[in-house]
Amino acid sequence: MTLPTKVRLVEVAPRDGLQNEKGEVPTAIKVELIERLADAGLPSVEATAFVSPKWVPQMADHAEVLERIRRKPGVSYPVLTPNLKGFEAARAAGATEVAVFAAASEAFSRRNINCSIAESFERFRPVLEAAARHGIRVRGYISCVAGCPYEGEVRPEKVAEVAAALYDMGCYEISLGDTIGVGTPGKIQRVIEACARRVPIERLAGHYHDTYGQALANIYASMEMGVSTFDASVAGLGGCPYAKGATGNVATEDVVYMLDGLGIETGVALAKLVEIGQWICRAIGRESASRAGRALAAKCAA
Ligand code: HMG
Ligand code: MG
Repeated sequence: MTLPTKVRLVEVAPRDGLQNEKGEVPTAIKVELIERLADAGLPSVEATAFVSPKWVPQMADHAEVLERIRRKPGVSYPVLTPNLKGFEAARAAGATEVAVFAAASEAFSRRNINCSIAESFERFRPVLEAAARHGIRVRGYISCVAGCPYEGEVRPEKVAEVAAALYDMGCYEISLGDTIGVGTPGKIQRVIEACARRVPIERLAGHYHDTYGQALANIYASMEMGVSTFDASVAGLGGCPYAKGATGNVATEDVVYMLDGLGIETGVALAKLVEIGQWICRAIGRESASRAGRALAAKCAA
């Protein structure tokens, strides 16, 4: 299969990245991060999560973040909503796109959202119904598509079952999360193959954490299968508080560098992205996990 000519990138650093920071990140920094990412050309910037502040205190300022950002026309600012309570709060703060998040493993579902997979569908159903009434788009995530930190092996057929349930419920896109970054290209292709039997391939997206250094290879392997939407996080920030040892998502700078090299259009300005990666790392006192970001920044400084 030929590679796509265009790829849509969903930037997740303000949510997936910052939900995992130990220190408190000021709301003003979050707002600036979101605005700068949109200005760099990213068409979708996941802004925050309307989850319980007791579970994830890092996202407790969700309403303020969403209300304060200057919205760039044409850019989407999805937010996580695990239930109707989160959805109503997100809508009140002006959300026009939300995301529900399920898992392909029972143990992870319990740890992450405190319910079984079947119960999570019952919580999502009213979210999708309310969203449809208000013209709000809903994205669906599936965690642990290539393995679970508690259960180990996850079968591609199980992932496909969850993907089909979310799609049939009305999610416009299903993002396949390799939460702990254990997937390798062959495994990811088997997951996509199984899901594509139940959900149109153009409705599948890849969300690959880079814990084992496989994420770029997994993106390439996914593009070979016809997937053309990927989630990424500037400077490789991120992880999941309920998946110990999981590191960040694939760095957006690394993905854009690879796609630029392949002549695949993203609309994202790599130089701006590198600057944002350097800035946010300084602001939160971290090293960038982006190889391309570090190399390009060093070249500019030389
Ligand atoms: P629960 O305790 O089962 O919920 O938590 P509950 O309905 O029994 O309510 C308990 C308390 O939470 C109540 O407050 C509710 O009002 C409150 P209290 O009476 O005790 O004061 N509550 C809420 N507060 C704010 N917003 C809400 C909300 N819902 C209930 N939406 C719940 C269930 C889902 C809320 C909880 O488990 C939770 O917040 N989990 C957070 C999980 C999370 O954010 N994980 C990280 C994001 S997912 C991820 O990173 C994976 C992804 O990147 C893909 C990948 O990489 O795999 C997407
Ligand atoms: Mg994630």
